[in-house]
Amino acid sequence: MSAHHDKEHKPGEVPTTGHSWDGIEELDNPMPRWWLWTWYASIFWAVLYSIAYPAWPLINGATQGILGYNRVAELQSNIDKFTELNAPVREKLVKAELNEISDDAELQSFAKQSGAAVFKTWCAQCHGSGAGGNPGGYPNLLDDDWLWGGSVEDIHLTVTHGIRNTQSEEARFSMMPAFGEMLEKEDIDGVVHYVRQISGQEHDAALASAGETVFADNCSGCHAEDGTGDRSQGAPNLTDAIWLYGGDVASLTHTVTYARAGVMPAWNERLTEADIRSVAVYIHSLGGGE
Ligand code: HEC
Ligand code: HEC
Repeated sequence: MSAHHDKEHKPGEVPTTGHSWDGIEELDNPMPRWWLWTWYASIFWAVLYSIAYPAWPLINGATQGILGYNRVAELQSNIDKFTELNAPVREKLVKAELNEISDDAELQSFAKQSGAAVFKTWCAQCHGSGAGGNPGGYPNLLDDDWLWGGSVEDIHLTVTHGIRNTQSEEARFSMMPAFGEMLEKEDIDGVVHYVRQISGQEHDAALASAGETVFADNCSGCHAEDGTGDRSQGAPNLTDAIWLYGGDVASLTHTVTYARAGVMPAWNERLTEADIRSVAVYIHSLGGGE
């Protein structure tokens, strides 16, 4: 790498900067006019902008700008505008009989839309963004397998007060006992195979037949004699092969031994009545509503 200053340029030839790398010379072309002017204009624009709008970061916040523009305030004023526009329909929604909302097309469609937004914000993290549920006790809300009932009223009550929480005294409540302290190991094995039998899964016939009595004596009070469950206690249907916690032998044994107690928060302190109604109507509309 060496610079050659000795080469003179001839008239009409572009001068070089004098830099040359392995014989490749750097030409000294002037910037095109249009480019230069665009550049000056953008500097001018930047100066004007930073005077007019919030721009330069300071220790606390930023320069305010002489126009007093504020993005947060603009967003809030947009939200306020829409809230105001929707006020009449929200009021109507709150006053309507729950089971009559679906008779009013305008109300129903408003509730479904705003309910979908509520769901995405508050419910999706547990029930899945498509409401299909998650393993580990977060129920699918798309099917017609309801723990606590699938009418708009039932869903509304569940959402308002939640399930097995300490936030609302009216929360849905029930407790399955932990049978590990009450039953012998072989009784648990038997009842597990009986549950597999009534849910149409592979099972040990001898164990299942012994388990039938164990079920009648210990489980039927909540899960019903035929195992189809009891919504007044949130006791799931055990015959439909839809599982909150799993239907394999290991999961069932764990459920019976230690019990399960899914918790859902109450929403009456966090959401407005209009939002709760909206999300109840939305869930009801998803396919499994009754
Ligand atoms: C922190 C997790 C969590 C969040 C957040 C949550 N849920 Fe739940 N939800 C649960 C659990 C767990 C259950 C099942 C409780 C049980 O076992 O009885 C449940 C049950 C339900 C049920 C009863 C289903 C049935 O079969 O009867 C409905 C309806 C429901 N959730 C709606 C919602 C709505 C609407 C929201 C948002 C406003 C929401 N949930 C937010 C955890 C959550
Ligand atoms: C006092 C009422 C009660 C009794 C008695 C009871 N259960 Fe339950 N069981 C429940 C409730 C409530 C749930 C739901 C827990 C939850 O949602 O988190 C449940 C859940 C289950 C599940 C989980 C289902 C799933 O979808 O994953 C199984 C399995 C089960 N019970 C089996 C039994 C068996 C077997 C017995 C008898 C040995 C029994 N239960 C006795 C109330 C009861």
